[in-house]
Amino acid sequence: MLIAHLSDPHLRAKGELYQGLVDSNAMFDLALDTLLALRPAPDLVIIGGDLVDGGTEAEYETVRTALQRLGQPVFVIPGNHDDRETFRRCLHDLVRLPDEGPLHFDTHAQWPVRVIGFDVTVPGQHYGEITEASLAWLEQRLAERPDQPTMLLMHQPPVDSGMGFIDTYKCFGGDRLAALVARHDNVERVLCGHIHRFMQIGFGGRQLMTAPSTTTAIALRLEEDASPASFVEPPAFLLHHWRKGGGLATHWVPVGRFPGPLPFF
Ligand SMILES: [Fe+2]
Repeated sequence: MLIAHLSDPHLRAKGELYQGLVDSNAMFDLALDTLLALRPAPDLVIIGGDLVDGGTEAEYETVRTALQRLGQPVFVIPGNHDDRETFRRCLHDLVRLPDEGPLHFDTHAQWPVRVIGFDVTVPGQHYGEITEASLAWLEQRLAERPDQPTMLLMHQPPVDSGMGFIDTYKCFGGDRLAALVARHDNVERVLCGHIHRFMQIGFGGRQLMTAPSTTTAIALRLEEDASPASFVEPPAFLLHHWRKGGGLATHWVPVGRFPGPLPFF
């Protein structure tokens, strides 16, 4: 089973640039070109939030147009740049979304690996938060299928990345989530976005990974007093490959077309 995992496209209204500088719409189209060229084709596509930059209907129209290129099911969660209700209103007929409350999703038993989208966003805030209600919801979901390999998808990482200027806006309450993950052996991965670059770290005894953005990368500045910045680094997405008896491998897939195939050996 193959799961393509994209994040933080920050799409804009048609013809507009991200931060007035970067054509995030064209970059997302390039990411979809790379995704559509994969063989075998991914079984499903997940997008880990910040689908758009300003939360407007015109931006979600760009999302709709782009996602219609994909033949496989798409599951999405919001990020801090999304507007929860505009997101719900504009995308409800394209992707599966609840009628009210947080925009969690659950692929249930449709595929060998289950993906649970865990909406930790706080409307109007850039940080995320694990609430009693959302933790109870997740606990109930995990109790339903204790033997099925499962990945959790959330936007803000529930851990510090070491980049202080973005850690101010992490998901708070991570200790309780880590304890919950540690109690459920079938949780294979915790997947996040938000920091616009790949990172891997232990969490609740499992692996937590952040997906790179299809648009810009947040500067890899690990000094304590670093100032925030972004760079147009090579965009990428993750491809999670699960094989029965072989476990779950995660590949980092650069976006673009590259010279090759060249002779091997
Ligand atoms: Fe983002």
